[in-house]
Amino acid sequence: MDDYCDDIILTGDRPTGPLHLGHYAGSLANRVALQGRCRRQFILLADLQALTDNAGDPGRVARNVLEVALDYLAIGLDPARSPFVLQSGVPALAELTVHYLNLVTVARLERNPTVKAEIQQRGFARDIPAGFLCYPVSQAADITAFKATLVPVGDDQLPMIEQTNEIAARINRLGGREILPEAKALLSTTPRLPGIDGKAKASKSLGNAISLSASADEVTRAVQMMFTDPAHLRVSDPGQTVGNVVFAYLAAFDPDRAGVAALGEHYRRGGLGDSVVKKRLNEVLQALLGPIRERRERYARDPAQVMRFVDAGTAAAREIAARTLDDVRGVFGLRPAATIAGRSAERLSLPVEAG
Ligand code: TRP
Repeated sequence: MDDYCDDIILTGDRPTGPLHLGHYAGSLANRVALQGRCRRQFILLADLQALTDNAGDPGRVARNVLEVALDYLAIGLDPARSPFVLQSGVPALAELTVHYLNLVTVARLERNPTVKAEIQQRGFARDIPAGFLCYPVSQAADITAFKATLVPVGDDQLPMIEQTNEIAARINRLGGREILPEAKALLSTTPRLPGIDGKAKASKSLGNAISLSASADEVTRAVQMMFTDPAHLRVSDPGQTVGNVVFAYLAAFDPDRAGVAALGEHYRRGGLGDSVVKKRLNEVLQALLGPIRERRERYARDPAQVMRFVDAGTAAAREIAARTLDDVRGVFGLRPAATIAGRSAERLSLPVEAG
């Protein structure tokens, strides 16, 4: 990557629980690396998206806004350089979603592979909340509102970016000019981290992820439980490193690349026990998460200050999103939102209610 890029970056997370190492490997580490090196970077706390399948438990979303903001600060995101934006505080995002919904078919929504997998995972049959099926459209609103060109995400988000670009292309065709730019995904070198149980993906809903706020003991216990090679029974047996979660995590997080390569070779040859490899991984994760935990605890002492950061980023985002909304309203022959609001205030004198 260049030293400086001209991109506008937008990415975000659903505040449904604390962020974990899967988020870190897939996207968070890239955000920290990109901070200050691009034109702008916005980080979205996607509370409206989280509500699309948590409307029955809104407290969970409300509580986790602060938790996720703390995670951001803990990993080193600086709200002055990477404003934190609360999705529900930017009403233009909801209106953009309404306009974009007219450009998307139900069949297209049902074909989105990530949404399909999530519908299965949550056991929805015909009782899918309509908002859930449509959340990729709301995500298109998030990305285009900021005219973002780069979106650091894990690989499960690629279908969302594809749908975003389809919508942007339709808006541009309708408007007869480029109103919304094309967005590109930025995948990390570990776009998908496996769960500690060996399942394909670490996720909070599967309960197989190590959260960034895990205590030192929780980290050690998770490493001890990690799925390795079930056929590697004796230390002297040759072992598999592919499909072995400990090696997947070493590949993702151990800065000593040569050391990891040597461990892998020894393991495949035989003569290296799981406990040695797990000990190394535990050291690596404690070194990564220790400072994150400390910073998190420091910020957690002043939650009001954390929410002031969120409010400031959200206020800045409102202005930007309102401009994009007016462009899109124009495509549909609608006047700018402020014009209409201003006229009705001026002209209309409502009768005073009789007391
Ligand atoms: N869908 C993302 C997730 O599940 C969160 C998200 C919402 C997002 N809006 C976004 C990601 C815009 C990137 C860009 O984590």
